[in-house]
Amino acid sequence: MKIAEACVSLLSCILLFSGHGVFALSYDYSATTECLAAPERARYGGGMMEFNQGTNGTKFILLQDKTHSLQAVKLEEGNLYTFSAWIRIGKGSESVTVDVMFNASDGKLIHGGETIAKKGCWSLLKGGIVAESSGLVEILLMSRAKGVDIWVDSVSLQPFTPKQWRSHQEKSINKVRKKKLSFAVTYANKTAVDGALISIHQTESGFQFGCGMNHNILTSEGYRKWFASRFKATSFTNEMKWYSTEKVQGDENYTVADAMMKFAKRNGISVRGHTIFWDNQRMQPKWINDLGPTELKKAVTRRLNSVVSRYAGQLTGWDVMNENLHFHFFEDKLGENASYVLYSMAYHLDPSTTLFMNEYNTIEDSKDPTSTASKYKTKLEKILSFPGNKGLKAAIGLQGHFGAEKPNIVFMRSALDILGTMGLPIWLTEVDVRKGPNQAEYLEDILREAYSHPAVKGIIIFGGPKVSGFDVMTLADSEFKATRIGEVVDKLIEEWKSGRKDVRTNGRGWCEVSLFHGDYEVNVYHPFTKLSAASSFKVTEDMENSTVFVQFHV
Ligand SMILES: *[C@@H]1O[C@H](CO)[C@@H](O)[C@H](O)[C@H]1NC(C)=O
Ligand SMILES: *[C@@H]1O[C@H](CO)[C@@H](O)[C@H](O)[C@H]1NC(C)=O
Ligand SMILES: *[C@@H]1O[C@H](CO)[C@@H](O)[C@H](O)[C@H]1NC(C)=O
Ligand SMILES: *[C@@H]1O[C@H](CO)[C@@H](O)[C@H](O)[C@H]1NC(C)=O
Ligand SMILES: *[C@@H]1O[C@H](CO)[C@@H](O)[C@H](O)[C@H]1NC(C)=O
Ligand SMILES: *[C@@H]1O[C@H](CO)[C@@H](O)[C@H](O)[C@H]1NC(C)=O
Repeated sequence: MKIAEACVSLLSCILLFSGHGVFALSYDYSATTECLAAPERARYGGGMMEFNQGTNGTKFILLQDKTHSLQAVKLEEGNLYTFSAWIRIGKGSESVTVDVMFNASDGKLIHGGETIAKKGCWSLLKGGIVAESSGLVEILLMSRAKGVDIWVDSVSLQPFTPKQWRSHQEKSINKVRKKKLSFAVTYANKTAVDGALISIHQTESGFQFGCGMNHNILTSEGYRKWFASRFKATSFTNEMKWYSTEKVQGDENYTVADAMMKFAKRNGISVRGHTIFWDNQRMQPKWINDLGPTELKKAVTRRLNSVVSRYAGQLTGWDVMNENLHFHFFEDKLGENASYVLYSMAYHLDPSTTLFMNEYNTIEDSKDPTSTASKYKTKLEKILSFPGNKGLKAAIGLQGHFGAEKPNIVFMRSALDILGTMGLPIWLTEVDVRKGPNQAEYLEDILREAYSHPAVKGIIIFGGPKVSGFDVMTLADSEFKATRIGEVVDKLIEEWKSGRKDVRTNGRGWCEVSLFHGDYEVNVYHPFTKLSAASSFKVTEDMENSTVFVQFHV
């Protein structure tokens, strides 16, 4: 007999069997940025594309005129479409960026992803779109260079309904955020206890779902209460930045950042350090512009040593060079390797802390060619392979500042798939959605997509109650009552924990329960003998034994 079948649940064993109602083609999470000798097969058998059907040949396209129509397809509003194709260069260039775009009949062009095509080998282009209206759409390939021979093979466009998409998320959440645990209850003489009531209570979530905070938390009791009752992870918006801690050259002042650290520690809130440097020229301490290269180098070294040693061992990670793909202030001033050297210095000063890249538009804007997943990966590989950086603990930071339009979560998932191939933790670090009529709904879509992706290990949203001044996402009003978007956040916090579960052992003294990662307390009570026992345990991704043994002592 299977244990799960014998387990009698008072409340929640049904959960083990739910979620199978929707038939869904499994989503293909695989991706590669390697350039292969031969293209792989078309995903989902090509899906809606006629391109591959009955053929096993390559289409040769001359992207002379910069765009080429692959096929017109009929899309249905609300459905999600994954696109993939294998692409190489025949002649004309060594490497070129190729985009897929969807040209709707109303003239709206939507970018669906890109790849860097190379000569002599095949690259995967993975992306897609969420259809905003029903109708014919032309799938276009576009290259940013003139007169390049492009070869295309194994093209695929696979539709998913929103229900099917959601079922991938549920399936993935069950797999990557939860664990099936067995409980075994015995008497002191090792005999199994039939009908013991097991009450399980989650005291701490194992997933880092947090919220940014700012200095206003120091002066508002309400803000502190609001924060501490919801979140166990944070990063400070500006208070650790160089322009905040050293307004005047040589006058370092950590009063505010230290006070916020103290509040976080007192409330068991982990802090992601943001940021040692920022590569944007406009985001420097004002006095920096007057420095020559030698003085700048000195100031940079002092800043790094100061802030990294101050918070060494106290942070869940450090953004070292914020927005390193979009900007290059320090490279311009100090040489092409400036950022790599700074990552190296931070690593050697505090080797145990994870060091992040932190960028915008990688998941939120498929149009921005500067910070695509493949470019992000290439940059991070350069950091990791720079002399002296061997052993550096790295992670991928994706800001996630979304616009007011419908987010392209198919593109977002494909970008996470591509970055996921690095095997490093991915964090969404500054998630917000611009104000608009669907702000709450879009935030929910984005958070569900992020939370369910196997490579994502943490999410920090950027929002707060009115008093915080976070004006993109106001999560609560001046009375700390949740706004509509705040309700979404609170709902997901509830949904992503196990709360309280009551189950009962079978004749073999067993019961099985699926629980979110986290810390738990368990109380066991046997109504016939009136025996009871209590214990605590931790559910983690990599826990070795998934059986909790409870023994009654007479
Ligand atoms: C094309 O044919 C070759 C050899 O018959 C096979 O190995 C390959 O998988 C096929 N490619 C596609 C895209 O079907
Ligand atoms: C998109 O389609 C319209 C016709 O609906 C056409 O005029 C336009 O040139 C197309 N855009 C591209 C980039 O092909
Ligand atoms: C073990 O202990 C329980 C409770 O004291 C008792 O009911 C049961 O008969 C014992 N079993 C054996 C095999 O001794
Ligand atoms: C440091 O900053 C705090 C907060 O802004 C301020 O109150 C304090 O006077 C500053 N200390 C010095 C030495 O300037
Ligand atoms: C940057 O680093 C690379 C790799 O170590 C090295 O080959 C190159 O000479 C460096 N450039 C400068 C300007 O130091
Ligand atoms: C793992 O095994 C040990 C020893 O058998 C047991 O005490 C513990 O409760 C088990 N379960 C967990 C979740 O640690």
